Amino acid sequence: MARSKIALIGAGQIGGTLALLAGLKELGDIVLFDVVEGTPQGKALDLAELAPVEGFDAKLLGTNAYEHLAGADVVIVTAGVPRKPGMSRDDLLAVNLKVMEQAGAGIAKYAPDAFVICITNPLDAMVWALQKASGLPRQKVVGMAGVLDSARLRFFLADEFNVSVEDVTAFVLGGHGDSMVPLVRYCTVAGIPVPDLIRIGWTSQDRIDAIIARTRNGGAEVVELLKTGSAFYAPAASAIAMAESYLKDKKRVLPVAAALSGEYGLKDLYVGVPAVIGARGVERVVELELDRGERAQFDQSVAAVQGLVDACLKIAPDLG
Ligand code: APR
Repeated sequence: MARSKIALIGAGQIGGTLALLAGLKELGDIVLFDVVEGTPQGKALDLAELAPVEGFDAKLLGTNAYEHLAGADVVIVTAGVPRKPGMSRDDLLAVNLKVMEQAGAGIAKYAPDAFVICITNPLDAMVWALQKASGLPRQKVVGMAGVLDSARLRFFLADEFNVSVEDVTAFVLGGHGDSMVPLVRYCTVAGIPVPDLIRIGWTSQDRIDAIIARTRNGGAEVVELLKTGSAFYAPAASAIAMAESYLKDKKRVLPVAAALSGEYGLKDLYVGVPAVIGARGVERVVELELDRGERAQFDQSVAAVQGLVDACLKIAPDLG
């Protein structure tokens, strides 16, 4: 069987890490695309020279031409401008919207059968714009946010309890970052829900509240420390988990930004929800029953996403 092909639009910090992880996991051949001349070519060559050391086989190509996306099975989009300290995700909207229009056109022309994962921020609006601009089926275009937000939450919880990160699960709904909705009752240590761990004295509600606040602020915390650029290792690993579930038809249940068609009472909007990711893309959205508090937070998150989409429509009415 021929190798799968993974195309990366954007060969910056996340793009390079995506290529490294895709290589190490032998997910397939890799194309790095960027508008900057030399960057994708240099990273592709560097990674090709790493392959013999790590012992993986993959063709690596760096390019400035969309035509090299041809036949890609997975396209991961990180192209755009990252957040700088003090800059909100929303400030990025206008610049990155243009980039999504270009990427969408390239994908439509050269990789219309691909599973597309968007990482560019503001995520929930950019993935919406990318689907509109590419015209690909909605179940084949998803946004990466929830896997990262829940990974951050899992790490903080594992640290709090001094247990393996492997045994901690966490679930988040809604928009990325500030407006995410953590479902603490579905966060567990080896299946034991966090509220039960509070009851047996492993932690307190106050400490969990602080962990949730830190998770919401997780992206900004890294930005403040790095001073230039934003997080890239964990975002790349999160998108690779989604790509792997699609390529291997693993049908993992992952929190992703998916286009809703009536679930949670919403239509034509991308919102973070648990979904089954398999060979058909988003195969099923898990529609949970939310309690009143969760629903209120979810509605607030949805309103924030809708606000971003409305702002996109003002700038680019054609996408509607
Ligand atoms: N087409 C293709 N690539 C582009 C375009 C474009 N129109 N515009 C910018 N790029 C490229 C840049 O040249 C750069 O190499 O996108 C890359 C982005 O990489 P970084 O600046 O290193 O950003 P990164 O840390 O990888 O984050 C990527 O993810 O976290 C989000 O919003 C954040 O936009 C950011 C994205």
